[in-house]
Order: sequence, then C-alpha cells, then structure tokens
Amino acid sequence: MTQTPTKPLLRALAGERVAPAPIWLMRQAGRYLPEYRALRAKAGGFLDLCFTPDYATEITLQPIRRFGLDAAILFSDILVIPWALGQPLRFEEGRGPVLEPIAPDGLDRLEREGVVERLAPVFETVRRVKSALPPPTTLIGFAGAPWTVACYMIEGGGSKEFLKAKRWALGAPDRFQQLIDLLVVATVDYLSAQVEAGAETLQLFDSWAGVLSETELERWSIAPLQRIVEGVKARHPSVPVILFPRGSGLGYARFAEASGADGLGLDTTVPLRFAAELQKQITVQGNLDPAALVTGGRALEEGIDRILSALGAGPFIFNLGHGVVPETPPEHVAALIERIQRTAA
Ligand code: CP3
Repeated sequence: MTQTPTKPLLRALAGERVAPAPIWLMRQAGRYLPEYRALRAKAGGFLDLCFTPDYATEITLQPIRRFGLDAAILFSDILVIPWALGQPLRFEEGRGPVLEPIAPDGLDRLEREGVVERLAPVFETVRRVKSALPPPTTLIGFAGAPWTVACYMIEGGGSKEFLKAKRWALGAPDRFQQLIDLLVVATVDYLSAQVEAGAETLQLFDSWAGVLSETELERWSIAPLQRIVEGVKARHPSVPVILFPRGSGLGYARFAEASGADGLGLDTTVPLRFAAELQKQITVQGNLDPAALVTGGRALEEGIDRILSALGAGPFIFNLGHGVVPETPPEHVAALIERIQRTAA
C-alpha cells in the first residue's frame, strides 16, 4: 500500500507544493567542509572513505549536523559500479578518477556476477545513516546513469568532449548497447539494494547527457534511464526517482513526459520559464548556479529569490544546478538555507 509521505522532500516528490521548499545540495558533503578534509586526511584514500561505513556514515551526516538540510545523500561515488564490475579504479589528488580504460573487446572481462555483494559496505552505510537521521530528513541513494558511467569507463577518467565514448557509441552501437545493457542491470540491482537498506528516494546522475545529439540522447540517456526507473519500481513501487540529465536542454521536456521519474534535476542553464512548464508534469529540482553560492551576498540572494518566485508555487525542491564546489564558504550555505526556510509563503 502506498502511504502518504510526511517528510517534506518526499511530499514534494509526490507532487505536493511544500512551503518552505525542501532543500538539499548536490555534493553537500565534500572538500568545502573542514570536517570532511580532516577525515579525508586521516583515511587512506577516497575509495577507503566510500567503502568504510564508519567514515562514509560520518561524512554523510556532516552537512546534516551543520546545516539541518531536508535530505542526506549517501556518501559514495558513481564510479563504484565500474569498480564492482572489476575495472581498476583509483582517485588521484588534483586529477580525479583514473580507470583502466575499457575497449569494445574488453566487455567480456567485466565481472557481471557479484556486483551487489562487492558493494556490501555501501549498504551498511545506508543502514547506519538511516538510523541516525532526524525524523524529517530523507535519505537519498544514488547511482550514475549508464551513459555517464560508460563515458568514464571508456575514457579512463574525465574528459571535455568524451570523444572516445561517442565514437564507440556511433561506430559500434550494438557493442555499445551491450555495455549500456549491463550497466542498466547492475544499476537496478545496486539501487534496489540501497532501497532495501533504507534509501527513501534515488537520484540518477547523467552528468554528461549534454554532449549528446537528439537521437543519441534518446537512445543512450533517456531509454536506459526509463529502464532503470521501471526496473527499480517493479521491485519497489513506491520509491520516488529523481533524474539529473545535466545539460540536456530542450531534451528535459522528453524526460518530463517519458522517463517515468518523479523528479527532474535542472542544471544551471535551464531557463526558469521553461522549468515552470516542466513543473506542470513533474516535480522540479534546482537550479542555483554553484558560483552564486561561492560569491554570496547580493548575487546569492537574487539567485535564490528568482528561483523561488518562478518555481515556488508548484512541486519543487531547492538545489544547485550542479555540485557544491570546494571553494564554497560554508557560511554561504548556511545563509542559503536560512533564506529558503524564511520563505514559507
Ligand atoms: O555529497 C554528495 O553529493 C554525495 C557524494 C557524491 C560524490 N560524487 C563524492 C565525491 C556524489 C553524488 C558523487 C557523484 C559523482 N561522482 C558524479 C555525478 C555528479 C557530478 O558531479 O556531475 C560524477 C561525475 C562523479 C565522478 C567523480 N568523483 C569525479 C569526476 C571526481 C573528481 C572531481 C572532484 O570533484 O574531485 C570524483 C571525486 C569525488 N566524489 C569527491 C567527492 C566528495 C572528491 C574527492 C576528494 O576528496 O578528493
């Protein structure tokens, strides 16, 4: 039986207008917080943080304690799926993730069995965070979208254009489809296990949707995300799902009408008038420029007020248009939350 949710974030995802707007921030845990940097220095490396429930629980809770946000997002990374598929992964200081790049003939070497078992520490973190959260706070689980995860698997790390991934998708689409298919299966299993451990909603990050043409967006971003939403909801019908297809432009309208998701994360570039149109079909989330949060003062206040006046009347979750950057003063985050929570009208 589906129950009417009481937590503000879940009410917004159920299509309710909630005042004040629930708020959480992508990358709300991380390097801009001194308490994160202290723990990071103590742990062996970034993956040790992700796979040690003591550390990952503590880091997930840090921004909740400091700011009292409406949601905690599990501390982990989208690249734990390739890692669990057997692809060597490390995080280098100042460079980000480094993977041993996968080629079309390397697909068969991925270890499709045992993915969920290898990620057991993540579910332990979910259980611990869930039991430590204040009652109104929602726990968000997450994963990367197949396209974005495939991009990192193929390039072996970050890239500006993801040309290797695009060449594979365009030049050997059947083989590329096999990679996407196995990521869909692994992601449905991984997200379902997060829900079983206590995650109350899920976000899928398609951070590189914006490099795809209309046809490619349909095939490599929208279609696999539809299958993931469907697959997770087949097992957990009442769990709401949020999609963040960053940079997909007018393609956002397709996600609103066809993805089956409950919420749509808007990047910084999405015009608010267009966002208000999307909001007629789906709960929207976003989309303050992370740079306004770094800047603070008038720029921050005006940015907040513009978004609230455009989207505050419908089902809405306040967030940034992308993640908090390390240069962000924590006081600005406190000021942002204060301003949102003051706007109850
Ligand atoms: O607070 C949260 O939002 C939860 C934790 C979280 C992290 N990564 C922790 C992290 C989440 C949701 C992610 C998602 C993620 N990871 C994405 C999608 C969102 C986006 O930003 O577009 C992507 C593309 C990745 C892959 C990744 N992980 C990159 C490219 C990098 C290097 C860039 C960077 O910011 O350092 C990471 C490392 C990473 N993931 C850090 C954190 C806190 C920094 C690690 C450090 O301490 O050095």
